[in-house]
Amino acid sequence: MTVLVTGGAGYIGSHTVVALSEAGRRVVVLDDLSNSSERAVDAVRALVGADVAFVRGDAADVNLVSQAIVEHDVDEVVHFAAFKSVSESVERPLAYFANNMGSLIGVVEAMAGTGIGRLVFSSSCTVYGEPDEVPVTEASPTGAANPYGWTKLHGEQFLAQVAAASELDVMLLRYFNPVGAHPSGTIGEDPNGIPENLVPYLMQVATGQLDRLRVFGDDYETPDGTAIRDYLHVVDLAEGHVAALDALASHPGCTAVNLGTGRGYSVLEVVTAAEAVLGRPIPHEVVGRRPGDVARIWAGTERAEHVLGWTATRDLAEMLADHWRWQEANPDGFGD
Ligand code: UD1
Repeated sequence: MTVLVTGGAGYIGSHTVVALSEAGRRVVVLDDLSNSSERAVDAVRALVGADVAFVRGDAADVNLVSQAIVEHDVDEVVHFAAFKSVSESVERPLAYFANNMGSLIGVVEAMAGTGIGRLVFSSSCTVYGEPDEVPVTEASPTGAANPYGWTKLHGEQFLAQVAAASELDVMLLRYFNPVGAHPSGTIGEDPNGIPENLVPYLMQVATGQLDRLRVFGDDYETPDGTAIRDYLHVVDLAEGHVAALDALASHPGCTAVNLGTGRGYSVLEVVTAAEAVLGRPIPHEVVGRRPGDVARIWAGTERAEHVLGWTATRDLAEMLADHWRWQEANPDGFGD
């Protein structure tokens, strides 16, 4: 089997390429490098000891994607390529819709034109908006609070409708909060500029690149007042994609699946866990809430177990230890 991985040079993409290669698939990465580095592809090649083909370009370019599918004899696609900053999406909604919908439509058109029909789509728990009840299951109500979230929700709806009318079979993977890095410390998250997400920010405080972590709000209705998320190891998440491709043969149509651990940690619990892993305090202060943040969300994991035969196995300490190994060795990420 040969898999085309769009956005395969990015954080989740690169870890997924490793997992796919280790599972015996040939991989072709397509990435425009707008928020990633070709060095990630080199690091992946070194890790898996196999050739990983690389095509530089935009997934919205139907001709380019079609050519990659035909030339490399691609059978199935994992589509990551997208913008993912919530705050930037509020400032630049047009860019987010154009890029995220454009690349998805490009991929689906190229698949239809070349006659291949198995697709895994990178979605997000952001499609649950502010949940009334936790854990959220795939049947929970959906909504979006920002343009980024809408691109994921519209992407899901678009795929469900195309799948209903064609031979396309799709897994919509709704990720909770991926953190960590490959245990080798040679690939990991490399945010542009100042990180927006909790763990990358916290790690840059730990290296001394940033002064202190701001904890956004301690007046939520949670045990310690800080917001709760379902953090999962990026290697577990990557393995979930292999399981999703495997499951597509027996699950035609369009299936949404949560990928999370099923348990939540508060911001302060993450800080405490990181301090334990690093063996020293991490400077932090509580500030006001960040607009648009939900108080608490974690995954219902039954469908992932049932449909994919997948559960997350790595705990928070392992996520933080692995993330730190990468950050400490590569404080400037891939350095470009
Ligand atoms: C956000 C998006 C999600 C997106 C993901 C990746 C929302 C509701 N969710 O997840 O859709 O897929 O980013 O880009 O917007 N925190 C701090 N200090 C910080 C950073 C974060 O206290 O410096 C807190 C946040 O308030 C939140 C938790 O840490 O409670 C996790 O934040 P973050 O890592 O940004 O992820 P989400 O907001 O859950």
